[in-house]
Amino acid sequence: MDLTVLYKLTYGMYVLGAFKDGRPVGCIVNTCFQVTSENPLLTVSLNKNNYTLDAIKEFKRFSLSIVAEDTAPGIIGKFGFSSSRDNDKYHDFGYEVLGCTPCVKGSFAGRLILEAEQFIDCDTHVLVVARLKDTVKGTGTPMTYSYYHSTVKGKAPKNAPTYRKEETKVADTTAKTLNRYECDICGYVAEVDGELPDDYECPLCCADKSHFFRIE
Ligand SMILES: Cc1cc2nc3c(=O)[nH]c(=O)nc-3n(C[C@H](O)[C@H](O)[C@H](O)COP(=O)(O)O)c2cc1C
Repeated sequence: MDLTVLYKLTYGMYVLGAFKDGRPVGCIVNTCFQVTSENPLLTVSLNKNNYTLDAIKEFKRFSLSIVAEDTAPGIIGKFGFSSSRDNDKYHDFGYEVLGCTPCVKGSFAGRLILEAEQFIDCDTHVLVVARLKDTVKGTGTPMTYSYYHSTVKGKAPKNAPTYRKEETKVADTTAKTLNRYECDICGYVAEVDGELPDDYECPLCCADKSHFFRIE
């Protein structure tokens, strides 16, 4: 079976926000879609290891902020590559409470407020089926998963249902003369002439130079 055919599936990008023990938590998801149109139901696939799933199981309410092409990439890095278990992901960005859920501040194409109704076990993941409770209009073009890979040059961690092992091995043949350094936190690949500067910071997850290693 050729699993690369799965790469032809298309997705958006979302910041999921919820409260746990009175603290705002959340993560990036790409696996969201609308299931029904009247009194709409939506679904999201969440890894069982993600702290955000624990939050939704307890609190039920959560928000989905629809990432736009002009949403700060640092939000994706922070929410997609670290856990709220030991991290205040909202610290640098702030949040507002909409429909009893935390929504990270920033430019988004819209916000959805949802309430979980069903949790369907899917091996490593849980499919959360949730009822739409409210919407907030936003601005900008919604970012697709493909745009995130091709233009933001981001990767997906192992917890993402659509994680591709091959991603870090893809060579960029157009940049043969540049040195390539990969971030060991988010997988961002920096292409520079010479060495990375000492004060280099990952544009995606803000990791410092010590997190970058040379790749071919
Ligand atoms: C582009 C991208 C897409 C992702 N999609 C999903 C997803 O659909 N479901 C999921 O469970 N995790 C997904 N993740 C991974 C979570 O965001 C990540 O594991 C996060 O650190 C979990 O944080 P938490 O422990 O605070 O919940 C994605 C990450 C990225 C960067």
